[in-house]
Amino acid sequence: MDPNVRPETMERITTPALAEKFIAEQVAAIKAQVKDKKVLLALSGGVDSSVVAALLIKAIGKNLVCVHVNHGLLRKGEPEQVIKVFRDEMDANLIYVDAVDRFLDKLAGVKEPETKRKIIGAEFIRVFEEEARKLTDIAFLAQGTIYPDILESKDGVKAHHNVGGLPEDLKFDLVEPVKLLFKDEVRVVGKALGLPDNMVYRQPFPGPGLGVRCVGAITRERLEVVREADAILREEFAKNGLQGKVWQYFTIVPDFKSVGVNEKGERTEGYLVVLRAINTRDAMTATVAEVPFALLSHITDRITHEVKGVNRVAFDLTPKPTGTIEWE
Ligand code: XMP
Repeated sequence: MDPNVRPETMERITTPALAEKFIAEQVAAIKAQVKDKKVLLALSGGVDSSVVAALLIKAIGKNLVCVHVNHGLLRKGEPEQVIKVFRDEMDANLIYVDAVDRFLDKLAGVKEPETKRKIIGAEFIRVFEEEARKLTDIAFLAQGTIYPDILESKDGVKAHHNVGGLPEDLKFDLVEPVKLLFKDEVRVVGKALGLPDNMVYRQPFPGPGLGVRCVGAITRERLEVVREADAILREEFAKNGLQGKVWQYFTIVPDFKSVGVNEKGERTEGYLVVLRAINTRDAMTATVAEVPFALLSHITDRITHEVKGVNRVAFDLTPKPTGTIEWE
């Protein structure tokens, strides 16, 4: 039997009881696989890696070593939440790496979107590799691979390995406890493991993070604008019942300033924040979410008054095609 093929008899995990059964089976399987050895995991705080972390903590406790790399492109509050949930509440063995300056220095002046993606991906592996080398007794690498990753890599759509690209001498045996699960099942398991809702029901977030939403060459100033505006958008969507209903929503800040006028009648030059909210099934095509006009006006008012350096807000009305979901 191919371990990367989901058996047809495998029941879809839709209830807490089925999730508990899966958790018990996986905890036993992990214990049998890793015994008293140590396992390393790159923990981003996304749903998949968080569920894998929680499963492994249940199975092997401190023999799981989680590494959380803060590359400076995470959303507001994310690194803090990873520390709170995993180190403080689950008592995990968590290494927090502040690599913000490293990433932003490497990205300084780089405008081309695919080059930005490559730099972020390569630097991530380098930081993770350095941490792995400091630990001498690691035998396994855990990954949050899920079933669509396996299906897509079979079809040649994308390479799925989260930290693929580690050098030969760091090729660990893999522990991939959720590799036969679909995303909705991972969420049911995450909920049963006691992870907070805003981690379990989180919208998709690209690997290069806010880096592709800070259009063109990333500056610290514009990155803060994207982050603060995104936090306001998320807060308002949550307050107004759109969280979990709209598939993906975020802000983009282009690399030019717009002319405006302040309340005292003085000319300003400030950033434009673009709001994007889309619905989709598979991210290949997308429609624009219908957001009440009054809410859009309220979000505009908050962003222009609360986020320093912003004088204009726009809502992107473009479906995919013709626009992609992200702006670059
Ligand atoms: P696009 O912009 O291609 O986005 O319509 C489709 C979905 O993929 C996400 N996305 C990425 N995810 N690395 C990722 O892990 C990336 O480089 C990347 N680019 C886009 C995007 O957020 C959307 O959900």
